[in-house]
Amino acid sequence: PWNVDRASAIIAEFRDREGPMLPILHAFQDTFGCIPEDAAPLIADKLNLSRAEVHGVITFYHDFRRKPAGQHVLKVCRAEACQSMGCDALIARAETKLGVSLGETTADGRVTFESVYCLGLCATAPSAMLDGRVVGRLNERRIDALLAEVQR
Ligand code: FES
Repeated sequence: PWNVDRASAIIAEFRDREGPMLPILHAFQDTFGCIPEDAAPLIADKLNLSRAEVHGVITFYHDFRRKPAGQHVLKVCRAEACQSMGCDALIARAETKLGVSLGETTADGRVTFESVYCLGLCATAPSAMLDGRVVGRLNERRIDALLAEVQR
């Protein structure tokens, strides 16, 4: 959970480096599991930046989460090669089956469903990643199998 003292110590550790914001945000996410609401005002205050600047960085990078991830993280690639191979239909299928939209976590906390922009597996598009394991040649059968795996 979020802890201001711990967060302030992290900021103090990185603040004198060049470009301290990204290392601070990564450290927050590693420590707290996400970048909580309270993080942006604290960073802005300590680094003498506006909240909007900090907020802009947090929202620009898709890797930063607003809430802790579920037990499993399923990411489906939405970059060009995967788009051309029909990833959107597979994403819609997964959204229906999970009952969440991209970027959300299921109510039971089991699965966070996210998009990603190129996994370097364009040759076997459409591609996905489940808990860090890459899966190529995604089709309805394969996405169903991944969903069964995370919902067990
Ligand atoms: Fe999806 Fe490269 S575009 S893996």
